[in-house]
Amino acid sequence: MESGNTFWADKAALDWQIELGADECIADAPVDRYSLAASLPKKTAAKITPELPLSVESDPIDAARRAADSAHDLEGLRAALAAYEHCELKKGARTLVFADGTPKARVMIIGEAPGRDEDRQGLPFVGRAGQLLDRMLEAIDMGRDRNVYITNVLPWRPPQNRDPKPDEIAMMKPFVERHVALAAPDLLVVMGNISCQALLGRKGITRLRGNWTEALGKPALPMFHPAYLLRNPAAKRDAWADLLSLKARLRETA
Ligand code: URA
Repeated sequence: MESGNTFWADKAALDWQIELGADECIADAPVDRYSLAASLPKKTAAKITPELPLSVESDPIDAARRAADSAHDLEGLRAALAAYEHCELKKGARTLVFADGTPKARVMIIGEAPGRDEDRQGLPFVGRAGQLLDRMLEAIDMGRDRNVYITNVLPWRPPQNRDPKPDEIAMMKPFVERHVALAAPDLLVVMGNISCQALLGRKGITRLRGNWTEALGKPALPMFHPAYLLRNPAAKRDAWADLLSLKARLRETA
C-alpha cells in the first residue's frame, strides 16, 4: 500500500483547477471571521480574530462619513478606511487597496474595485487591465510615477470579482469624496460603468464616455474601463480620442 505521498496527484488536481480559472481558495461568499469566531470557545476565537471595536455605529453611511471627515491627509484617510468595519467586502479581501501614483497630481483616475492581482499586491490597476492603462497613459506622456493618481470606488476586492452592490458603493462613497478633496486633483477620469454609477449617478458608459461632465465638484471625463478594452479592442479608438481630450483639457487649464 502506498505511504500516502499524493503530492503529484494533488499538484495535478490543483493545476487543473487553476487551468479552469480558479484563482482563490474561497467560497461563494466572503468568510465572516467575526461570526465564525463567535461560535468558537473564547480562547480559540481570540487567536483568530482581533477584538471588535467597543462601539459600532449603526448606520454604515454615517459611520463612513464621520470616519472619512476625520481624516486630514491621505495617510489619515487610509487609516480611517483600514479601521472601518461595516463593509462585508473587507472580511473576504486580503488587502486594503488604497491608491497608487502621485498624490496631488492634476489627474486622478477612479476605477471600480480591485481584482485578484490588486488584492494580492495592495495596489490599484496592476493586473492586465492596469498594464493596459499604464500603456494608454504613456501614449499621452503621463504615468503614475509622475503625473497621475489612481484609486477605486471600492478599496476591497469583491468575491470572484462580482459587481459591487449598491449598499457597498453607498457606504464607500464618503471615503471617495474625502479622497478627492484631500488629493485635490484638477480633473477626474471616471473609469467604467460602476464608477460612473457611483460618482455621476448614471450608467451607460457607451453614451457617457468622452463627454466632459462634473463629479464631486471637479471636471470629470468618463472613459471605457481598460478591462472592457481588453475584451473589445475596437473600442480602443474611442479610448484614444478620450485620452487626447484629457491631454487637451490639461493644456487648456494649465
Ligand atoms: N479594475 C479596477 O477598476 N480597478 C482596479 O484596481 C483593477 C481593475
